[in-house]
Amino acid sequence: MRTLVFATQKGGCGKSTLAACIAVAARNDGHLVRLIDTDPQATLSNWQSRRPAHDVVVDAVREAGEIEPELRKLRREGTDLVIIDTSAGMNATTRTAILCADLCLLPTRPSIADLESTVTTLRVVRAARRPFAFILNQAAIRGERGNLAASALSREPEHGLASVVALPFIASRNDHQDALAAGLTAVEYAPDGKAADEIRRLWEWIEMRLNGRSQRSGPADMLDDDDANVPWDSCL
Ligand SMILES: Nc1ncnc2c1ncn2[C@@H]1O[C@H](COP(=O)(O)OP(=O)(O)OP(=O)(O)O)[C@@H](O)[C@H]1O
Ligand SMILES: [Mg+2]
Repeated sequence: MRTLVFATQKGGCGKSTLAACIAVAARNDGHLVRLIDTDPQATLSNWQSRRPAHDVVVDAVREAGEIEPELRKLRREGTDLVIIDTSAGMNATTRTAILCADLCLLPTRPSIADLESTVTTLRVVRAARRPFAFILNQAAIRGERGNLAASALSREPEHGLASVVALPFIASRNDHQDALAAGLTAVEYAPDGKAADEIRRLWEWIEMRLNGRSQRSGPADMLDDDDANVPWDSCL
């Protein structure tokens, strides 16, 4: 069983949206998937209650001490992919989720404020020595902002880009918002649309990364201790 954890300090960068999207994309790919909603805002639990079919189960787990027992139970039941959505900020539940992760996914919008706010989450991920990747979400459909943000995040493009920044960038598209309102994800709401295509390709990237088939985990994933000093603004 593999565990993905969506985490970033900043609110509204797409953790819940992408967690649901990746869950459905992986389910469509034949995986037995379970979502865990650790956020008291209950975005995923509410999404599930709007969902026409009870085919992707969301478990609400709010206490740090409940996460590991829940993961053991899901493993026994034969789940092969668990996706944990966390709340904005940093708390004991999110720290525990990160410790349990096979891969931490840090969605961020390609703006200075969002990039800067990934530092807090990144410190926790690095202290836990978990593999991670950024997902650039809500990127403008046109323009170079996504590429510039990717360079800022990777800092060592020749070593790090393939493993540190997930591909493709996820554009800002109405399909994501309309799908969420209907209890769906973009891959179900408009399967032939661009949003759906980006999500399917993002799942492929994540699966490759989980299987160690992209650039291997290692020092290149673990940005330096002075990440906080990255001159983000010079890159945007
Ligand atoms: N790629 C996208 N295109 C358009 N809208 C998006 C995209 N990703 C997320 N959104 C929208 O942005 C809003 C915030 O997304 P979401 O709730 O997933 O963020 P979050 O990181 O989980 O927030 P929180 O930290 O509050 O839990 C939602 O209205 C969602 O529909
Ligand atoms: Mg959320």
